[in-house]
Formats: sequence, structure tokens, C-alpha cells
Amino acid sequence: MKKILVTGGAGFIGSAVIRQFINETDCSVVNLDKLTYAGNLQSLVSIADNPRYKFEHVDICDGGQLTRVFREHQPDAVMHLAAESHVDRSISGPADFIETNIVGTYILLEASRNYWNSLDAQRKSAFRFHHISTDEVYGSLGDSGFFTETTAYEPNSPYSASKASSDHLVRAWHHTYGFPVVTTNCSNNYGSHQFPEKLIPLVILNAVNGKPLPIYGKGDNIRDWLYVDDHASALRLVLERGKLGETYNIGGWNEKTNLEVVHSICAILDDLHPQGAPHTQLITYVADRPGHDKRYAIDANKIANDLGWKPQETFETGLRKTVEWYLANDDWVKGVTSGEYQKWMKQNYGDRKTS
Ligand code: NAD
Ligand code: TYD
Repeated sequence: MKKILVTGGAGFIGSAVIRQFINETDCSVVNLDKLTYAGNLQSLVSIADNPRYKFEHVDICDGGQLTRVFREHQPDAVMHLAAESHVDRSISGPADFIETNIVGTYILLEASRNYWNSLDAQRKSAFRFHHISTDEVYGSLGDSGFFTETTAYEPNSPYSASKASSDHLVRAWHHTYGFPVVTTNCSNNYGSHQFPEKLIPLVILNAVNGKPLPIYGKGDNIRDWLYVDDHASALRLVLERGKLGETYNIGGWNEKTNLEVVHSICAILDDLHPQGAPHTQLITYVADRPGHDKRYAIDANKIANDLGWKPQETFETGLRKTVEWYLANDDWVKGVTSGEYQKWMKQNYGDRKTS
């Protein structure tokens, strides 16, 4: 049985990864999370009492706490998902992105490397540091072509520049110190438990509440959407079988314009929530995002050919499941949007820093 230290496990993708590890494997998981506005332990209530799950309320920028966590838990691998992740926030306030995504990744790499150096030969050679990143590091595509693992980095937003920096640090730690890393760069995720500032949950919840559905620019920017559980299963596979020092792109072969995405959500809601139909009447064109990348599209052939991964969910089935989840989980939504969550945290965790 392996023990995985997951950073950012209270976030959207990290919580999906942890639910899979606990429900589908015999691995144990330590979730290390600072619990920013985007981190929510309510996403983990279904597995929180499992003896194979532990939570550590720690900031990845706190090297002393990281050292303690490694010493106490002795993990076999790190999956690094903790990050500031929202492009719009990175435009209005980049400082946290530099701090967590760049400085935090550096501090985590050093704490991990010190721990790795302390392991016996067998555990040292089995250890893995899996860095989870984004396709946004590659910049923007024109009308044709795909991002491959050898596409040059051309990040355009403070978010993508901070993630690109972290990718470079991870790469350097492998080449310089022989630190055993794998990196994945994934396209846009969607699914349950996503903080409602990102396009899909924002549009679902605004539509249900009769609020405008803001479309940046003309709505013709293209994203390549992947269901979050498909991403989580790809991450587990890369951790298990990925080649050291290699990068794997993960994507759903699922390109949609933003307008297509919003129309699909409205059509599902017209069916499941007919009050307010047609929901497309709420579509509102707003000022474009500064430096808005035109198109992202992943060539996912390497992970398919080398590791045999392919997504299970189509956009149609995954989007319907996602809309159904948001309609059925009003408490979760209210918790993350109303400040109730912070109260819940205090009641459940008090001032304790660790579980
Ligand atoms: P998220 O914003 O939902 O979750 C991030 C988590 O990290 C939160 O739980 C937050 O509390 C935690 N965190 C933030 N700063 C921290 C710090 N200093 N120390 C410890 N924990 C901290 O993000 P997500 O969408 O789940 O993304 C997870 C990872 O996947 C990120 O690295 C992101 O760059 C990458 N990624 C996301 C997408 C996507 O579409 N969401 C696509 C590709 C890659
Ligand atoms: P987002 O979910 O923020 O992800 P990313 O910027 O990482 O791709 O945005 C997805 C796309 O949707 C992106 O092209 C910006 C656009 N968008 C809107 O048109 N309106 C919105 O309110 C939001 C949040 C995003």
C-alpha cells in the first residue's frame, strides 16, 4: 500500500484525485492544503472518515511545516496540485500566483528533495514527485495545430507564466539533482466541485438564478474540455507508470467555443430546470479578458500510446452530469459562496492546524 502526499487536495481537481485514491485503490493519502477561498473540505466529506485519509492544514510556502509533514507521514510520492488557478484573478492580483505557484513550488521541491535524500535506497528509487500543470504554458494556438509535449513555452497570463516557471523549476530539479519527477500539462477541466468563478459552474449557477451569462468578447475563444474524473485517472496512471523526467499532455480531444459551451449548458437546463427557459436569453456579451488566449487544443497521443490512457466521458455526458450535480448540491454551492464554509471550518477544525 502506497502513501501519497497530495498538495491542493481540497481544490477542484485535487479532491477528485483523493476521492478516486480512497474509493478505488488501497493507497493512503495525506491532503496538504492551505484552504484558500478555492479549497473546500466539504468536497471530501464522503471520504474524510476513512482511516487511509489525513488532512494537514499547511501552506506550501512554509518549509518548516513541510519538513514536519514529510517526517511524520513518510510518503512514497508527492502529487503537487496546490496553486492559485484562476486566470482572471491573476490579472487583477498576480502576487499570490508568484508566491504560491513559483516560490511555493520551489519550497516544496526543496522539502521533498531533502526528504528523498533521507530515504533508504529502495524507497529512494521508488519515490516520485508528480507536478500537475496546465496547457496554458504553451500560449495560444491559431485556427489549426495542437499542443504537443515539445511545443515551446509561450505563457501569456500571469497565471500561465507562474505555472510555466514552476514547470521549469521541476524540470531543473530533475536534471540537476536527479530528483525523480514527472510532469503533466492538462487542458481545461470541468465537473463537480469546481469553484463557481470558472466558466462552466459560473454559467450553470447564474442561469439557475436568472443572472446574466457573461461571454468575454465574441465567445469564439476555444478551449479543449476534459471531465475532471478522466483527468484524475490520467494523473494516477502517470504517477504509476510515467517515465522519469518526462512530460505528458492530457486532453479530451474536445474543442468547443465558449459560446458552444454556454449554449449546451442552457439546453440541458431548459430540460432539467424549465423555469426561466430558454436560458440563452441570459447570454450577455461583456468586455474581453486582457490578453485572452484564442485557442487551446491538446495532442494527447503520447499518453494514449505510451500509457494506454483515454477519456471515458464525452462532453455531452460529462456536462449533463455536471449540471445535475450543481442542481443537486445547493448546500455545497451555498457553502463556498456565502462564507458559511469558513464558519463550518471553524466548527469542525477550530484553531487546529492539523487533523
Ligand atoms: P483549485 O483552485 O480548485 O484548487 C487549488 C487548491 O490549492 C485549493 O484547495 C487551495 O486551497 C490550495 N492552495 C492554494 N494555495 C496554496 C498554498 N500556498 N499551499 C497549500 N495549498 C494551497 O485548482 P484546480 O482547478 O483544482 O487545479 C489544481 C491544479 O491543476 C493546479 O495546479 C492547476 O494549475 C492545475 N490545472 C488546472 C486545470 C483546470 O482546468 N482547473 C487544468 C490544468 C491544470
Ligand atoms: P476559465 O473557466 O476562466 O478558464 P481558462 O481561462 O483557464 O481557460 O475560462 C474559460 C473560457 O471562458 C475562457 O476563454 C474565458 C471564458 N469566460 C467567459 O467568457 N466568461 C466568464 O465569465 C468566464 C469566467 C470565462
